[in-house]
Amino acid sequence: MSEAAVGYAKKNGERFVVELKDLLRIPSVSTDPERAGDVRRAAEFVAEGLRAAGMENVRLIETTSAKHKNGHPLVYAEWLRGEPSADGKAKTTVLCYGHYDVQPAEPLEEWKSPPFEPTERNGNLYARGAVDDKGQMWMHVKALESLLKTDGKLPVNVRVIIEGEEEVGGEGIAAFVREHGEELKADAALVSDTEMFAPELPTLCVGLRGMIYTEMEVRGAATDLHSGMYGGAAPNPFVALAQMIARLKREDGHIAIPGFYDGIEEPTKEELEAWRSLPFDEEHYRKTEVGSTELTGETMFSVLERTWSRPTMDVHGMPGGFTGAGAKTVIPAKATAKISFRLVPGMKPEDIFAKYKAFVEEICPKGVTVEVRMIHSGDPIVVSTDNAYIRAAKEAMAKVFGKETVFVRGGGSIPIVGDFVRELKIPTVMMGFGLPDDNLHAPNEKFHLANFHRGIESVMRFLELVGAD
Ligand code: BES
Ligand code: MN
Ligand code: MN
Repeated sequence: MSEAAVGYAKKNGERFVVELKDLLRIPSVSTDPERAGDVRRAAEFVAEGLRAAGMENVRLIETTSAKHKNGHPLVYAEWLRGEPSADGKAKTTVLCYGHYDVQPAEPLEEWKSPPFEPTERNGNLYARGAVDDKGQMWMHVKALESLLKTDGKLPVNVRVIIEGEEEVGGEGIAAFVREHGEELKADAALVSDTEMFAPELPTLCVGLRGMIYTEMEVRGAATDLHSGMYGGAAPNPFVALAQMIARLKREDGHIAIPGFYDGIEEPTKEELEAWRSLPFDEEHYRKTEVGSTELTGETMFSVLERTWSRPTMDVHGMPGGFTGAGAKTVIPAKATAKISFRLVPGMKPEDIFAKYKAFVEEICPKGVTVEVRMIHSGDPIVVSTDNAYIRAAKEAMAKVFGKETVFVRGGGSIPIVGDFVRELKIPTVMMGFGLPDDNLHAPNEKFHLANFHRGIESVMRFLELVGAD
């Protein structure tokens, strides 16, 4: 192993964090059209970082999708100068993936320091995107820089693709992979956008849930009405919406859509066994991570099964009607709910959407109409663990953390990973350095800085182990 590169990363570690802070100051919220300029600025910042690292052919790739004629750009870079081995075998190519877009920061008043003013406290860096995924993506850039600045080369060929629409469904990158997959030709993908199971416990994520994200819109009266004059006779779309939502999921967590669970693939006995031996304290999880009086859902399944290998439904918000301060007596003409389903292997987004739509149309109360729209979707995946890349990743992390690496699944979704597995047909390594209490998507998101530095070293060691094979 090139200890020079590790030394370089140590020596320059503080500068790496200073640069990361500059990136975190850019509010690249992909869902907000008003932030499109900031999103592009973040892309340019990342491209500049890759150029400075010594990567080649660095460029922004414009994206389009059915919904967005002007999507947020992809950042591409490569270093493909690896010499073939003596027996003529081409050097292995690793595709590094990350995303530079972030979730909205609201509610702002819950942040101890402002979301786009990165602040260090107790060895953690607080900011929106600190761990999801700017910080983790920056680890890749800095690992490449450390290797290139000391060895003058990389141990493998590397392509880098970083997207700016992950948090809104990743349609632009999906279209690019479908249409120009050969430009990302690689032997394996490396993704750092997941979590470690516990502090100090090196973790590889080997499965993600898929999802469909939908909007349900209910319309009643032709216009907003005075609720005193018409209440009792006019349909209320919020009440209708609530009635329908209540029928989607039973109190025991079971989803009541006919055929919803058809064809689900259960985890293997070995996988379940391995999950049981992970250090997990349900009470601690309830208190420190969830912070509620009870955990809910399908109690015949463990919490890890409920969040990794069981599908579920959640409501994210119900825009419409009166939400201002104080009171307004109105029967709104229309009500909307943002509803998503997390999917597990064996479930297909289009199939689940069709079943959901049919069920909702069937249970729609009298006097209102309902429309369900798909906002975005992504397939669930499990990756094979029986390959040299996973073995290299396991060894690299174990070396850096001084502990055996564990395998987990993630309850979240990264839509493009499914396309890497299906379209590019390459093994994918999900090596993440987030912690369970990093507050992804929530106020006070953070990145434990020790993990930022260990992540850089793990990525370097992974690339070297892959290159040595
Ligand atoms: N990095 C997360 C996904 C994740 C988090 C995977 C924790 C495993 C463990 C990613 O940025 C994310 O939040 N994805 C969205 C997907 C979506 C909006 C299409 C998600 O899961 O909600
Ligand atoms: Mn992410
Ligand atoms: Mn995210």
